[in-house]
Amino acid sequence: MPTERTSIHGQWSSRLAFVLAATGSAVGLGNIWKFPYITGENGGGAFVVVYLICIAVIGIPVMMTEVLLGRRGRQSPINTMRTLAAEEGRWPYWHLLGWMGVISGFLILSYYSVIAGWALSYVFRSGSGMFVGADAEAIGNIFTNLISDPERLLAWHTLFMVITMVVVARGVKSGLEKAVTLLMPALLVLLVLLVGYAMSQGEFMRGVHFLFDADMSKLSWQVVLIAMGHAFFTLSLGMGSIMVYGSYLPADASIGKTTFAIAFADTLVAILAGLAIFPIVFANGLEPAAGPGLIFQTLPIAFGQMPGGTLFGTLFFVLLVFAAWTSAISLIEPAVAWLVENHSLSRAMAASTCGIITWLVGLGTVFSFNLLSPAEGKTSFFDMLDFLTSNIMLPLGGLLIAIFAGWLMSEKSLQDELAMGHGIGYKLWHFLLRYIAPLAVLAVFLNVIGVLV
Ligand code: PHE
Repeated sequence: MPTERTSIHGQWSSRLAFVLAATGSAVGLGNIWKFPYITGENGGGAFVVVYLICIAVIGIPVMMTEVLLGRRGRQSPINTMRTLAAEEGRWPYWHLLGWMGVISGFLILSYYSVIAGWALSYVFRSGSGMFVGADAEAIGNIFTNLISDPERLLAWHTLFMVITMVVVARGVKSGLEKAVTLLMPALLVLLVLLVGYAMSQGEFMRGVHFLFDADMSKLSWQVVLIAMGHAFFTLSLGMGSIMVYGSYLPADASIGKTTFAIAFADTLVAILAGLAIFPIVFANGLEPAAGPGLIFQTLPIAFGQMPGGTLFGTLFFVLLVFAAWTSAISLIEPAVAWLVENHSLSRAMAASTCGIITWLVGLGTVFSFNLLSPAEGKTSFFDMLDFLTSNIMLPLGGLLIAIFAGWLMSEKSLQDELAMGHGIGYKLWHFLLRYIAPLAVLAVFLNVIGVLV
């Protein structure tokens, strides 16, 4: 039997509500903006294979574990870790893992909001018919003009932070469920239509080969690290988002099945985004390794050429903003839940406090594309932040979660909470969690810093 604890923040209305919210957290800019551009930067197929393996053998077991820990602790990740460590008679400082997650969440949201701001501004660019008939060069200029203007970026970043905090202040359960039920399927339909366009107008097979032909000579430990980091990022793992959502999960929901559904949906969206984008990249002589602007420099070409493209493009960016929004909310929820628990702040106060801090950190990213943009070949503040969070902090968080649950919690607690019996499913999960996930993360870390090679 799962524990009888209840959350002071309330509960999801059903298992489905949790699946939708967690899918809303997982599916976001990571799938549609980041996955294509880092795939392009890292040579395609081989990178995708490593990413898929990481989802299967690290991502899914760690996600199940985060949900399990959250539901057992029923509090913000900081307090959940404190409670569970005490309950299992372990070192009292495990709550620091929750703190690392809170910091990761602030750092990620600070740049996430800036990129979501780009998407927001593209709603209007598309809506005004700016893309109609524009060629790749004109589309490229629209993008460059946007990111080189700090004031505009700042305005969009601010707007996105405000709308995020409004939802967070109202509580993640009201509104979020409805938004996700409607918008996720719509996003999926639009992506499928875009893939259809890429099939008919783009160099579709070249795109497919780029995504799936695994040329293993393109792999280096650095590339493996990025693929692994992205598996954490895209599934919202390693920082407590899924843990805090798990803490609102009704006691009778099956953790295994829900996790599979979420990971499947997330992967599907990423692959569809890749299939839509790369054929357009190749058909227009663009560079797959163009970097963070990739989707903003490719998809508008398609919107500008297809019949009804203005409407279609506008709708696409609206949905992308929604996808980013539902992820952004989950990035800050661990911190907000903690403030409410420990400092008796109202949700509105807690959300505003977190929002202001994140907004300030976001200025670094805003300026890293213009006033403070680094010299050719140097890394910007944005690049550094992205590397630090996705490739170091999230996998480290995942590693520690795997160690805590896999090695320091009693099997009885795990089995009680998972409630999936002691069959093959349980054994496989436990094996992946104890051995494969921690060793894989460790091996990649050590190889990157050159200890093992
Ligand atoms: N998973 C989200 C995305 O793919 C980003 C995210 C990371 C959200 C970590 C929460 C926690 O866009």
